Amino acid sequence: MPRPYDQYIPLDTLISVAIDAARQGGAVLAECKRTGFRIEHKQIINLVTDADHQAEQRIIDVIHNAFPGHRVLAEESGLTEQPPSRYKWVIDPLDGTTNFAHRFPAYCVSIGVECDGCGIIGVVYDPTRDELFTGRVGHGAYLNGVPISVSTTDHLDHALLVTGFAYDIRETSNNNLNHFVRFALKVQGLRRTGTAALDLCYVAAGRFDGFWEVTLNPWDMAAGVVILREAGGKVTDFKGASHSIYGGELVASNGRVHQAMLDLLQKESAPS
Ligand code: IPD
Ligand code: CA
Ligand code: CA
Repeated sequence: MPRPYDQYIPLDTLISVAIDAARQGGAVLAECKRTGFRIEHKQIINLVTDADHQAEQRIIDVIHNAFPGHRVLAEESGLTEQPPSRYKWVIDPLDGTTNFAHRFPAYCVSIGVECDGCGIIGVVYDPTRDELFTGRVGHGAYLNGVPISVSTTDHLDHALLVTGFAYDIRETSNNNLNHFVRFALKVQGLRRTGTAALDLCYVAAGRFDGFWEVTLNPWDMAAGVVILREAGGKVTDFKGASHSIYGGELVASNGRVHQAMLDLLQKESAPS
C-alpha cells in the first residue's frame, strides 16, 4: 500500500526542493573553499574531502525535511534507508572532487529524482559560475530559468566533444584511452573537464556536441541525463541501446553526431 507521503507529487514541488538542496549544497562547497577543507584518499588517485561529506549531509537534510519517506542514493553515504517509496533521490554532492581539491573551478552539485525507476527531475548547480541547470520530464531544460537546447552540429569534423576517465584507469585496459586517441583524430576538439554532470549539462546547452564515458556511477548521470533529454539530446549505451544510469557506460549527444560517435566507439582497430 502506498503511504500518504508516497502519492504522486507535482513535478514543481519536487524540483523546488531539488533546487533548494542543490543551492544549499553549493553554498557548503563555497564555504569549504573559503575556509579550507581536509582531503582523504579513498584510493591512490580517488580523493574525498570534508566538502563532499558536509554538502551531502546538507542536501539529504533538505530532502528528508520535505520528504521523510523518500529513498536516497548518495555517493558518500550510499543507500542508507530503504523505505518503500516510489521516489529515489540520486545525489552527487560534489561532482569534480579532484578539481575542487586542486581549486580548479569546474565542479557542481548533482541531484536527480526517479519515480518508479524513471528519471523525472534533474538539477545541477555550479557554484563557481552560479549556473543552475534544471530539467523536468516533459517540460524542457533550463539554465538559470532560460530554456536551453542542444547544438545543431552534424559532423565530427565540426564537433567539440568531451570525455572522462574513471579512477581505475591504472588497473584496467577498459580505461577509455583507446577511444580517446581515436576521437582525438576525428573531431574539431576534445576536452576532459573532470565533472561528468556538468559535461552532460554542457551538451544540453549546446556548449559541447557530445560526451561519452566508459565507467560512470548513477550519481554522475542521474540529473544530467534528464536535463539532456529535455534539451532535445540523445543518451544511449555504446551499442545505441537504451541507457540506464546503473549501467556504467554512456554516450550522450545532440542526436546528430550520435551514430558517428557509436561507430567510433565500436571500432576495435588501432587509431586511424
Ligand atoms: C568523477 C567526475 C569525472 C568522471 C569520473 C567521476 P567525482 O566524479 O565526474 O568527470 O570522469 O568518472 O567519477 O569523483 O568527481 O564525483
Ligand atoms: Ca561524480
Ligand atoms: Ca562526487
